[in-house]
Amino acid sequence: MHIWLSWLTSVNALIDRMPHKRLAKKIDLKGAVMHQPAAPASSARGFEIVARQDFSDTTFLLEFSHPMMARAAKAGQFVIVMSHPEGERIPLTIADFDRGRGTVTLVIQAVGKTTKEMQQTCQLGGHLYAVVGPMGIPSHVGKAKKVICVGGGLGVAPIFPQARAFKESGAYTIGILGFRSKSLMFWDDKFRSVCDELIICTDDGSAGIKGLVTAGIAQALEKHTDVDEVVAIGPPVMMKGCSDSTRAKDIKTTVSLNPVMVDGTGMCGGCRVKVGGKVLFACVDGPDFDGHAVDFDDLMQRLRRYVPSEKEALERWQESCRIRGDAALQQA
Ligand SMILES: Cc1cc2nc3c(=O)[nH]c(=O)nc-3n(C[C@H](O)[C@H](O)[C@H](O)COP(=O)(O)OP(=O)(O)OC[C@H]3O[C@@H](n4cnc5c(N)ncnc54)[C@H](O)[C@@H]3O)c2cc1C
Ligand code: FES
Repeated sequence: MHIWLSWLTSVNALIDRMPHKRLAKKIDLKGAVMHQPAAPASSARGFEIVARQDFSDTTFLLEFSHPMMARAAKAGQFVIVMSHPEGERIPLTIADFDRGRGTVTLVIQAVGKTTKEMQQTCQLGGHLYAVVGPMGIPSHVGKAKKVICVGGGLGVAPIFPQARAFKESGAYTIGILGFRSKSLMFWDDKFRSVCDELIICTDDGSAGIKGLVTAGIAQALEKHTDVDEVVAIGPPVMMKGCSDSTRAKDIKTTVSLNPVMVDGTGMCGGCRVKVGGKVLFACVDGPDFDGHAVDFDDLMQRLRRYVPSEKEALERWQESCRIRGDAALQQA
């Protein structure tokens, strides 16, 4: 026990000093896989990718087979994925699940080394090496009668199961989706099937109203004076804007936080967030929190901490791809 506690203390101390990529390597994946629900015999190679869809140059969908996880998944939860045995473990929100088909859907934005590698290598018929989850506290779908669900950019995918859950609970559901432009838009048809009203916002005005999702919130609140709750998922700056826009009216506002995570089980302290003056761990206390109490500036500052090592990892990977590409060309 003592050794275990000392190990945890050392990990906590290390996380603040070390680039998270290096720390992630120190904690063996096998520790995480211990928490993996028993996989069906057919998943000896991992979890089969049964559908892939590319929404844009950077955003793609992977649907993988995992009947046990599909049965257990609830809106608001996430998984930790390792696409191959030497890969990094990254947290991704469960964007959808189908209990009948036994599948779970992820929507991924290729922003750095691991997500760009997944964009290249995770193809239909391939496998995800390890998936741990469902993790995190499911979103609270209470007795709200009228709810606004806001998704910004990639946040559109994880807000979907919440919008569906509110609709299924009987709430009047207003969806607000924000994209930079029409060409990046996805899932508006899926949202129409679970929302009583849908407002699309684009930065350039190429679809829906021209402006940020906060313009959509203002429009919805002008029409509806009886909104019980706003749920917002997207980049921290967007969730901050949404929380600010409901503060004066004191409308309950829930956001889903995405700090850097390592183990995802509350042990490393990497996902510390400040909420209402308290330090909480997004992986086990969240990821949903009261938007009016979140210290977004601290979150944004913490997310920028590892940018130099993330840039270095991406450059090293791109260089190795270039060398492998050259070798393949020479062999041809
Ligand atoms: C609960 C949760 C749910 C998420 N859901 C999704 C999702 O559904 N789709 C999606 O595309 N992305 C999601 N993310 C973010 C995703 O995990 C990161 O984009 C990914 O880890 C980036 O890794 P990379 O090597 O490609 O890029 P990097 O260059 O390593 O990182 C790019 C940026 O991603 C963030 N990031 C990096 N590593 C981590 C990490 N281990 N944990 C969290 N954030 C990290 C940092 O802000 C970093 O600056 C989620 C994050 C969290 C915490
Ligand atoms: S990711 Fe380690 S405590 Fe949350």
